[in-house]
Amino acid sequence: MKTIDDFAKINFRKALSSSEAFTLQFINPFVYNNFHLAFDKLNDVQKSGSIKLLDVGCGEQPYRSLIEKIGFKYVGMDVAARNVKLDVVAPIDDKNLLCDNRRGNIYDVIVLTEVLEHVDNHEQAWLNLSGLCREGGFIIITAPFIYPLHEQPWDACRPTIYQLSRNAERHGFKVETAIRAGGVSDVVGLLFSTIHKPTREANLISRFLGYIAWACLRIISKILLKFKFLDFMKSEYYVTNLFVCRKMETVSPLNDQVPG
Ligand SMILES: C[S@@+](CC[C@H](N)C(=O)[O-])C[C@H]1O[C@@H](n2cnc3c(N)ncnc32)[C@H](O)[C@@H]1O
Repeated sequence: MKTIDDFAKINFRKALSSSEAFTLQFINPFVYNNFHLAFDKLNDVQKSGSIKLLDVGCGEQPYRSLIEKIGFKYVGMDVAARNVKLDVVAPIDDKNLLCDNRRGNIYDVIVLTEVLEHVDNHEQAWLNLSGLCREGGFIIITAPFIYPLHEQPWDACRPTIYQLSRNAERHGFKVETAIRAGGVSDVVGLLFSTIHKPTREANLISRFLGYIAWACLRIISKILLKFKFLDFMKSEYYVTNLFVCRKMETVSPLNDQVPG
C-alpha cells in the first residue's frame, strides 16, 4: 500500500498521463498550474497507513484517477451525482452531516476545488470541515475571486484570501499556503474572453461596431492568456484562491489548568 512517503517522490504533474494533464488543464488551468504547490505540502501528512482523501463538491471527479493512482483512498462527496457514483451525497453545509459519528475526524486530506463559491452557509461548512479532518491533516481549497457567474443560480459568492484565512483559523486550522493565482494577463484575458457577441436587438451600426470590438477583445484575450505579457504589472485582482491549511492539534482542557 502506498504511503505519503511514496507520494512525496512523485511530482504532481509527472503522475499525470498526457491526456489527464490535457483534461485537467482544460477544466481549470489555474488549478492545474498551482495544484502541485498544495500537494507538495502533503509530505508532512502522517507517514504510515493509507491516506484517506475526501473530495467535497467533487462534480465529475476530475482528480479521482490521479488520487487513486498515487495510492490514496478517494471518497467523492457532492449534493447530486453527475455521471459518477458518489460515496457521500450531502451538502458540506448540512447541519446534520456529522451526526453520523463514523464520519468525524477521519480524513487526512480534504479537497474543495471551485466549490466554496457555491456554498450558502460558510460557518456550517467550516464547522463540518473541521469535524471531518483529522488532527494534523490538510485541507486544500481553490475558490475563484474573479470569475464569471457559473452553475447559475447556484453561484453564491467570491471568497477572498482573507475571508478564507479567518474562517480557517477560527475553526482550528493553520494556514500554510495562501496564493492569489492568476496575474494581470489572466484577469484581463478572462474578462475579455467572457464578453458576449452583440445581440440581435441592437441597431445595425451598433451591431457592426460591437462585432469588431468583440473580435478584437477575443484576439487580445487569447494572446494575453497564452503569452502573459502583462504579468510584470501588479493589481489587486486575481483569478483564484489556492489555499492549503493544516488542522491543529486540540489542546486538552486539562493541559490548560494552572496548577493550584
Ligand atoms: C464548479 S463545480 C466543481 C466540481 C469539481 N470540484 C471540479 O473541480 O471540477 C462545483 C461543485 O460543487 C457542488 N456543490 C455545490 N454546493 C455544494 C455544497 N453545499 N456542498 C457540496 N458540494 C456542493 C456542485 O454540485 C458542483 O459539483
